[in-house]
Amino acid sequence: MRRGVKPAGPGEITYSSYLALDEILGAQRPESARLGVDAHDELLFIIVHQTYELWFKQILHELDRVQADFAESPVDDWRLGRMVHALRRITQILKLGVQQIDVLETMTPQDFLDFRGLLSTSSGFQSLQFRLVETRLGLGSARRLLYEGKTVDADMSEAERTAYHAAEAAPTLRDQLEAWLVRTPFVTGERYAFRSAYREAVMAMLRRERDFADNVDQVDEAAAIERAAKAFEAIFEPDPKAGWTMSGKAVEAALFITVYRDKPALHMPASLLSSLMDIDEAMALWRTRHALMVERMIGMRSGTGGSSGHEYLARTAREHRVFADLFRLSTYLIPRDSLPPIPPEIERRMGFVYATPESA
Ligand code: HEM
Repeated sequence: MRRGVKPAGPGEITYSSYLALDEILGAQRPESARLGVDAHDELLFIIVHQTYELWFKQILHELDRVQADFAESPVDDWRLGRMVHALRRITQILKLGVQQIDVLETMTPQDFLDFRGLLSTSSGFQSLQFRLVETRLGLGSARRLLYEGKTVDADMSEAERTAYHAAEAAPTLRDQLEAWLVRTPFVTGERYAFRSAYREAVMAMLRRERDFADNVDQVDEAAAIERAAKAFEAIFEPDPKAGWTMSGKAVEAALFITVYRDKPALHMPASLLSSLMDIDEAMALWRTRHALMVERMIGMRSGTGGSSGHEYLARTAREHRVFADLFRLSTYLIPRDSLPPIPPEIERRMGFVYATPESA
């Protein structure tokens, strides 16, 4: 507690003063009321948007601590646990955001028309907090779709633009993930390289499959095996032209964590990867759901912000993904019984082989 600052005494805080209800409940000012236009649903429209903004504020608050924890090197297990917890909270908030669309859709397109014309050129597109969430997760301006040829900061105020560019200049969660993965120990040892062990295991698996095919119809599968092996190689040389955004080392570490996730030392790292995928999925779901709602509300009309409305939004759902690399790992998984065993030296470093007095 801050020195010299005393906690409030009995009766000094009320429910209403603590929650600043005067300010919050006084912050819904429908344009229709100001202009004397009958538009019952404008209040719902405002409240739903304001609720989102409050949740975005909470998400940014969670990201503050997650990113501070992720900036540590090494990232201790207790911090990893706290990060996973916060990331799960973010996912739940985003899922709530998807559900909130159900409430807004009780407003019919005809109801919306009662006040849509009063919104002028304002649009959710201008939500600074939404841009900060996207940016801090890792959606850089280089990967953003242009909006009617404009960048997202085009219509921002000076203060908003400063905040947006500060977020762009800082390490994003995706950058931090990359750096953490690259530092992952265990992936190589003195006499061990996961990369070659995995490759060997893949080749052995493919050979077994070929033997099986040979037995069945004598088809020479050599070329097919070679092609399949090459396809598997792609994971160790992730090509940005093929859509990969993480480095080869980071992808290799992510694969290691994913395939050996049953090992106790990898539980938390694997949960971290899962929770980042959950966030990516929840964001994509929100984008898809919002795009469908927009189509339902305004059809093929352009948005109040001037974009091609539904079409632009549907494309962001497909293309504004931040952790898509983690999803792609599944292409390269092999069954558990084909996985190469981890050498004892590495197991020991991971801390699951407990030293007995004889072996110590
Ligand atoms: C009747 C309801 C809604 C309609 C018709 C609608 C329409 C649109 C349209 C057409 C766009 C594209 C930009 C433009 O040209 O304006 C857009 C963008 C956006 N809207 Fe909505 N919207 C609605 C509700 C919401 C709600 C409740 C939120 C919650 C905050 C929201 C947040 C956003 C955001 C963040 C963008 C930018 C998306 C991006 O660029 O990836 N919208 N909206």
